[in-house]
Amino acid sequence: MGKDVIVACDFSNKEEVIGFLSKFKEEKPFVKIGMELFYGEGPEIVKIISSMGHKIFLDLKLHDIPNTVYKAMRVLSAWPIDMVNVHAAGTLPMMEAALQGLTRHDGTRPLLVAVTQLTSTDRERMKSDILIDRPMEEVVIHYARCAKKAGLDGVVCSPLEAGMVHDACGKEFLTVTPGVRFAENDAGDQKRVTSPAMARVLGSDYIVVGRPVTLAEDPLEAYRRCIREFIG
Ligand code: C5P
Repeated sequence: MGKDVIVACDFSNKEEVIGFLSKFKEEKPFVKIGMELFYGEGPEIVKIISSMGHKIFLDLKLHDIPNTVYKAMRVLSAWPIDMVNVHAAGTLPMMEAALQGLTRHDGTRPLLVAVTQLTSTDRERMKSDILIDRPMEEVVIHYARCAKKAGLDGVVCSPLEAGMVHDACGKEFLTVTPGVRFAENDAGDQKRVTSPAMARVLGSDYIVVGRPVTLAEDPLEAYRRCIREFIG
């Protein structure tokens, strides 16, 4: 499985995202479409970005009853996307339903990964707000094992947890890791962060980078720096 940098295009409208992506001439970054852009522009934005030649990670983090997630994934299976996700907290039957819904009649499907714990959540918050009183690593590994059992391709976790996830679930099980900052940048609302270079050392398969690229003075150079540090 090839390593790649996924750019989180957290823009509010089509004009902004197309303006941003048109700065890239030779490269065609793997693009993450998140809730803001998707809810603002609807499914059309997926078709537009795909037709520009980008791979797409549709980051909608589905979390609902299995039947609803199954049906939603059936819809998404017809779209030109390469990766989509659910919350592992939706439980094993929900993840199995997601996988079933996403699989096309010919057996093909986009990659399906599960969010473990958001990289903006730390142990104190997990304990106070969702009553999970276990170490973060244990929770992430447990969710990763459930995702693997359900047949998913990998998980979304912090780069800090990528090595442990691979140890528990195997090298082929993907780690998609947001929470990436250049060494000199402020982490903002993210809690469990590392640099692209460190994410490489820690064994992430895909890094998801938003603001360090989208808000950079020179986004193209920031993207290239991510590629250099993470892939070499
Ligand atoms: O701007 P920044 O690099 O923090 O963007 C990270 C992106 O990854 C955001 O789009 C956020 O929604 C997403 N994400 C995350 N943590 C997760 C799952 C997704 O930060 N666990």
